[in-house]
Amino acid sequence: MTALRVAVVPGDGIGVEVIAEAVKALRAVATAAGRSIRTTDFDWGAEKYLATGVTLPPGALEMLQGEFDAILLGAMGDPRVPDNRHAADILLGMRFRLDLYVNYRPVRLFHEKLCPLKGVTPAQVNLTVFRENTEGLYVMMGGNFKKDTPDEVATEIDLNTRKGVERIIRHAFEFARARGRTRVVMADKSNVLIHAHDLWQRAFRAVASEYAGIEASHLYVDNLALQLVRDPGQFQVVVTSNMFGDIVTDLAAGLQGGLGMAASGNIHPGRLSLFEPVHGSAPRFAGKNVANPMGAILTAGLMLEHLGWAEEARRIEDAVRWAVEEDRTTADVGGKLGTKEVGEAIAARLKG
Ligand code: NAD
Ligand code: IPM
Ligand code: MN
Repeated sequence: MTALRVAVVPGDGIGVEVIAEAVKALRAVATAAGRSIRTTDFDWGAEKYLATGVTLPPGALEMLQGEFDAILLGAMGDPRVPDNRHAADILLGMRFRLDLYVNYRPVRLFHEKLCPLKGVTPAQVNLTVFRENTEGLYVMMGGNFKKDTPDEVATEIDLNTRKGVERIIRHAFEFARARGRTRVVMADKSNVLIHAHDLWQRAFRAVASEYAGIEASHLYVDNLALQLVRDPGQFQVVVTSNMFGDIVTDLAAGLQGGLGMAASGNIHPGRLSLFEPVHGSAPRFAGKNVANPMGAILTAGLMLEHLGWAEEARRIEDAVRWAVEEDRTTADVGGKLGTKEVGEAIAARLKG
């Protein structure tokens, strides 16, 4: 039996604590299934960068591609690195250079008590956001002119390619078809971004025409933000640009109970992919055993689902739902337990 080979990059702040619990869940679910997962830790992050100047070591991507089935990452971000230079190299570096064009962010409410909206049930918060993950405003193209003078000019280019836009939109429709979803919404700002988001509009219409039976509609992203709060139940699949997807998925995490509950995958179908919770390194919470590990544990579940371990992935999700129902949770979602205690309760459930 070949073991699943997972590269683990805990990263910074609470990333370290939540990933430890996600790894416990992976071990527990594998043991219970009589299967094997081999994890290898990589210390890439702020500490290493500050000590050595190294962010993503040379040859790292080739090594990952040659030796691993998936990457599990905690978070990148440290107040001692104010420009987030290491995160740009490590996290965005992997997204761009491994061409992980699908940022897959399922939004699920596990229990009514976690949702800040009145009377909203789990059935009404069950959507998937597909965020374009390799271009848009994230490409770091732009520059300064007359920097540090009163006449300073700064630009940031929003890069959109027909190929890049089309492939994420197509992925959203393929997902909808595979999962029996009947509606796909694209969120853009084509009323103002008359070049870039006109491209999104045209690509969306062209791809949608290939998917009979799936209702394709469009919302301006500001209206999407409103509609997600007003009536999240109207959404099944949402596809949007890199920056809008970043913002919309923090809002959507709020519907799930907060950032501590939100999971994601950075995927190139058929290739080495990277899985990480939606949240960041939450420096204020770091080292205090208070961070919610559920987003990271659910992320480990998404990773297994992606690698074809469907039953184990389902068991992880069920174990998290059980822990929520039993109030085996951290304070951010109303509980009294620490990070470790939640992780251990879930691992014990998975073993049993
Ligand atoms: P953050 O996600 O780290 O935290 C925002 C707030 O969300 C926290 O103050 C906390 O109240 C809550 N929160 C987040 N995760 C939680 C958890 N697991 N349990 C309980 N509560 C949780 O975002 P931020 O404060 O904007 O950013 C902090 C650092 O993280 C920055 O350096 C930022 O660039 C980085 N960041 C990294 C990633 C990533 O690596 N994927 C994602 C977002 C932010
Ligand atoms: C996320 C994060 C990252 C992003 C940061 C840390 C670069 O906020 O994964 O949502 O903006 O994509
Ligand atoms: Mn974000």
